[in-house]
Amino acid sequence: MDTIHIQASTDYDVIIERNSLPRIAEFLQAIKPACSVMIVTDDNVGPLYASTVSKSLETAGYTVHTYTFPHGESEKNGHRLMDLMETLGQAKLTRKDLIIALGGGVVGDLAGFAAATFLRGIDYVQIPTSLLAAVDSSVGGKTAVNLDCGKNLWGAFKQPILVLCDPETLSTLPKEEWINGCGEIIKYGFLGHPELLDQLRERPLLQHPKDVDTIITQCVRIKAYVVEVDEKESGLRATLNLGHTFGHGIEHGSAFTIPHGNAVALGLLIMARGAVAHEELDPTIIACIEQLLIAHELPTSTTISRDLILEEASHDKKASGSSITIVVPTGYGTSVLKKVKFEELAAYCIL
Ligand SMILES: NC(=O)c1ccc[n+]([C@@H]2O[C@H](COP(=O)([O-])OP(=O)(O)OC[C@H]3O[C@@H](n4cnc5c(N)ncnc54)[C@H](O)[C@@H]3O)[C@@H](O)[C@H]2O)c1
Ligand SMILES: [Zn+2]
Repeated sequence: MDTIHIQASTDYDVIIERNSLPRIAEFLQAIKPACSVMIVTDDNVGPLYASTVSKSLETAGYTVHTYTFPHGESEKNGHRLMDLMETLGQAKLTRKDLIIALGGGVVGDLAGFAAATFLRGIDYVQIPTSLLAAVDSSVGGKTAVNLDCGKNLWGAFKQPILVLCDPETLSTLPKEEWINGCGEIIKYGFLGHPELLDQLRERPLLQHPKDVDTIITQCVRIKAYVVEVDEKESGLRATLNLGHTFGHGIEHGSAFTIPHGNAVALGLLIMARGAVAHEELDPTIIACIEQLLIAHELPTSTTISRDLILEEASHDKKASGSSITIVVPTGYGTSVLKKVKFEELAAYCIL
């Protein structure tokens, strides 16, 4: 078992342990006495794991409700949020009660945002079941839904009270979702962790899935450090957006047919090419990134137009006024934040 303690506006543990799901009540009881719980999940994950969670909780005296919605990024919207809010109200959850997000990043972001504002905020727990959620979205307290005009534009910071990751749940995760998670994992390597890049090059995760437990722990440790230093993203945390400036453009521009982690990986490669053009990155690193992406079956090109990617990037919420802060890879395992004018951004977008 690995436990990573996070000190933020709420202190909490991220527990990574195989077969912990049927024992969730054991972990929860220590921090939250029996109460009403709304398990929020999607129609892929719910049928697989919701009964395991509710059985453990009910045996320990919790009252359990379940809200299941259709899977997919397109459900992470204001209409779905409203429906969830009404359901929380109908179930008469009080401020002492709890929401559990059981699923991938879509479930986590939606349920977390509901927890941030229902009754002006109630506790929630993240149970990530996708690789992407395990290594990234379940930790750090960023919650949001999408607006028609862009991703994650309506949201709040709200830390969970516990993250319980049972890597056993990844046994049912489709291969394309493993690939998707690898996009964010490679990103972490460029945030000061060349050793992670070395490992992924020598032992690509897709071919060595047993490495996943230690990789989740490594990534959560990296993210935990960043969140502790800069919870509300006034500086260092923005580095986690590496690959995301163009990645969000690709994701949104493809009407979400290119999933988040794939788009982030490609966004990283595009930005790296831009960095080479600006003489900020050694050109040999491009081949290294391409090799990593190919080894993890991630895309290295797109048919989405450069104009569309740039247009979408201009809606990016990291933009302020006429400039935007981008994350530029500067070496094998390193990146820096850089503020550029919108007109300068195009020179970084090299497909
Ligand atoms: N809050 C953050 O800090 C943060 C960080 C990164 C990404 N995100 C968000 O996360 C989302 C992407 O997350 P995701 O890739 O997990 O997407 P997702 O939640 O849509 O999950 C991907 C697919 O896998 C299925 N699934 C999940 N776990 C499963 C399991 N164990 N077995 C079988 N199927 C399973 C889901 O039903 C879904 O179809 C995006 O909306 C992105 O913006 C948020
Ligand atoms: Zn991301």
